[in-house]
Amino acid sequence: MPLSKFGQKLAAEAGIVTLMDDLGDALRVNPEMIFMGGGNPASVPEVEAALDRALQKTLDDLALRRPMLGVYQPPQGDPEFLTSLAGVLSREYGWPVTPANLALSNGSQSAFFVLFNLLAGEGTDGIYRRIQLPLVPEYLGYADLGIAPGLFRAARPAIETLPEGLFKYHVDFERLQLGDDTGALCLSRPTNPTGNLVTDEELAQLDGLARTHNVPMIVDGAYGAPFPDITFGSAQPFWNDNTILVLSLSKLGLPGARTGIVLAAPDIIRAFTRANTVLSLACGNLGPALAQQLLSSGELLSLGPDVIQPFYRTRRDAALEVFQRELEGLPCRIHRPEGAFFLWLWFEGLPISSTALYQRLKTRGVLVVPGEHFFPGLEEPWAHQHECLRITYCQDPVRVAQGAAILGEEVRRVYAQG
Ligand SMILES: Cc1ncc(COP(=O)(O)O)c(C=O)c1O
Repeated sequence: MPLSKFGQKLAAEAGIVTLMDDLGDALRVNPEMIFMGGGNPASVPEVEAALDRALQKTLDDLALRRPMLGVYQPPQGDPEFLTSLAGVLSREYGWPVTPANLALSNGSQSAFFVLFNLLAGEGTDGIYRRIQLPLVPEYLGYADLGIAPGLFRAARPAIETLPEGLFKYHVDFERLQLGDDTGALCLSRPTNPTGNLVTDEELAQLDGLARTHNVPMIVDGAYGAPFPDITFGSAQPFWNDNTILVLSLSKLGLPGARTGIVLAAPDIIRAFTRANTVLSLACGNLGPALAQQLLSSGELLSLGPDVIQPFYRTRRDAALEVFQRELEGLPCRIHRPEGAFFLWLWFEGLPISSTALYQRLKTRGVLVVPGEHFFPGLEEPWAHQHECLRITYCQDPVRVAQGAAILGEEVRRVYAQG
């Protein structure tokens, strides 16, 4: 079947598609697999109870239930929800947000597709612009989103080594080059896959650079503040009129509702809404209906600090401890986990690629994600890229500990074989 160039790219077995297929297949073949691979949030009982209450309230009220199921909302999203959300964000954060600054999408992944292709590719002025990732590793889901080829450019980070076998990536401002062909900056905060929280100072400096070059800065807050706020450090929530903050209900516990939220200047929201109308006609109503209930009860903002953060902090501490123990004596460093729900392991001088290690672990019943996928837009070769693994610690800590033990054993073999 002859496909368009873009069709071929979309339908190709590359990047995220291969990985999702491979993770799915591995689980089908061996349902006992220790799954430390995906990005699914953990099942958090208090969150699930809050979501059940929100759903029940919506179902019990005919005036809410009917429109949730039987009405196309305007393409920008349910006006009542946008007004409530704008009110809460202005009150709680002092951000000058009105409904004109907000739009919804069917999941934040699709919002990134629209934003990247609005802001990068061949411009109306003939300039070919790219999305600049100020540092990689970065979210692998961005990699194949460009309609035009080569949509991303990425800079290598600076590495700060820390006590207790930890390390942290920083933006390397000397390496980071913006030019006339930069369409936007984009970073996830906290970062998938590393759990990095780009510091307040780095973010302020990036904001300054974006303004100087007259391009927006996209901040992917899928794991960050205001919700679900899976952060363990002291990073301040950030937004201003040159920032496009993309939020999601997924990591709060609603990946099935497919709801993304874009907070940006009104001209960007208008362009986004039109593009989203072409793509989706309207957004799904379930997520906004539940989020509206959580806004009214105050839980949308309180679940993060009161329930979600402590839950993942406990899981993180347990995971960090077992991995540090199982990997002791190996040339391994772990990125300081400051948010999200991942550990990022760096095996310096790993004798095989991280993809080969991933395959070996899979045959031993442990699923992780090889690091190679997380460097979209990095053009220069970098050995580090092949030395890292991402571990999701949402699972039951007993399973994570079993996985860590097998991983430690396998990596020891790899180094011993040389
Ligand atoms: C950093 C980051 N951004 C965006 C997404 C997309 O999430 P969703 O489309 O469920 O909102 C994910 C999903 O894992 C993610 O990890």
